[in-house]
Amino acid sequence: MDTFKVAVIPGDGIGPEVIDEGVKIMKKAAELDGRLQLEFTYFPWGCEFYLKNGKMMDEDGIEQLKSFDAIYLGAVGYPGVPDHISLWDLLLKIRKEFDQYVNIRPITLLNGAPCPITGGNKENIDMLFIRENSEGEYAGAGDWLFKGKPEEVVLQTGVFSRKGTERIIRYAFETASNAGKTLTSISKGNALNYSMVFWDQVFEQVSKEYPQVQTYSYLVDAAAMYMIKDPARFEVVVTSNLFGDILTDLGAALGGGMGLAAGANINPERMFPSMFEPIHGSAPDIAGKGIANPLAAIWSASQLFDFLGFNDIGENLISCIEKTLEEKRVLTPDLGGSASTSEVGARVAEILTEMAKVQSSI
Ligand code: NAD
Ligand code: IPM
Ligand code: MN
Repeated sequence: MDTFKVAVIPGDGIGPEVIDEGVKIMKKAAELDGRLQLEFTYFPWGCEFYLKNGKMMDEDGIEQLKSFDAIYLGAVGYPGVPDHISLWDLLLKIRKEFDQYVNIRPITLLNGAPCPITGGNKENIDMLFIRENSEGEYAGAGDWLFKGKPEEVVLQTGVFSRKGTERIIRYAFETASNAGKTLTSISKGNALNYSMVFWDQVFEQVSKEYPQVQTYSYLVDAAAMYMIKDPARFEVVVTSNLFGDILTDLGAALGGGMGLAAGANINPERMFPSMFEPIHGSAPDIAGKGIANPLAAIWSASQLFDFLGFNDIGENLISCIEKTLEEKRVLTPDLGGSASTSEVGARVAEILTEMAKVQSSI
């Protein structure tokens, strides 16, 4: 039997609440399957840890994480610690240090999920966002000059390297080509006259290696409009770090809300662990109430199984999420229900068990 080591960082706010359910589901799925064993190690890092210790993670935290097969993370950031400190010293640090340059965020309207636009269904809302996750607008480079003076100037620099831009675009072409899907690049070359002109040029160059992939290119403002008006035109999508961040929250809304949006931060070369997380934050407005939707966290657990090579388990978990949504019996308030986080987790586990019984009797 294969054993995999998973580092769990529940983090802040609703992070621990949804991660609890995700871990229960992963344990259950592995146990029912029988081919693999998962060993979970918890790390108490986050804003509370910061308030006690003056740092977001252990000094050698990155070193500690290196030996794991995967990282499962809840959410980072909470009132009381400035966001730019909490995020840069934990979540963004892990993405960067482990060169998790591919952020895969599926925007699919699962069966049974509510959609804010008329006529939305799984056929016309089924996109795979591939977000650049290591540089671009999130390079962390800039300057703050003449602080507090009338001539104060702040610079936030985007960094788009040839290596960084080419590798994400090539990854997206490979993905689209393997899936037989179209590829759309989202950029903003009309206004961002260095970074996005370069991005468009690289997209054009790499596209020559993939004549079999039908491509489209949109300006980000128009793309935001089309995602609502005509989402079917997007299949695989590649975009920069910041545009990908913003458009995937918009996509989350299309797919039923923040409680239903998952993301995988991948280092494709497998030099370092990859990280799986719901794309929502710590949701201070509902934290501690036990009503956060755990389905996004469970979806990211499904991505974790895919990554470990157990795609069938991953697909099963998606079916369980869909069944939970379709029944409409046990859902959290964001989806119009009155169930708690743990009740939803328990229902998904029941469905998983029922499905395993049916499969073993076939
Ligand atoms: P958020 O995603 O935490 O919340 C936005 C809205 O969505 C809130 O109304 C919230 O209640 C709702 N929501 C989010 N997840 C939900 C769930 N699972 N179930 C039901 N409702 C859910 O975004 P925010 O309020 O802008 O950010 C809060 C904090 O989280 C900030 O500190 C921010 O920096 C941080 N953040 C962290 C991550 C991350 O760790 N990956 C992602 C986004 C934001
Ligand atoms: C996300 C989050 C992060 C991002 C923040 C918290 C730094 O919004 O994962 O979508 O912008 O990448
Ligand atoms: Mn975001």
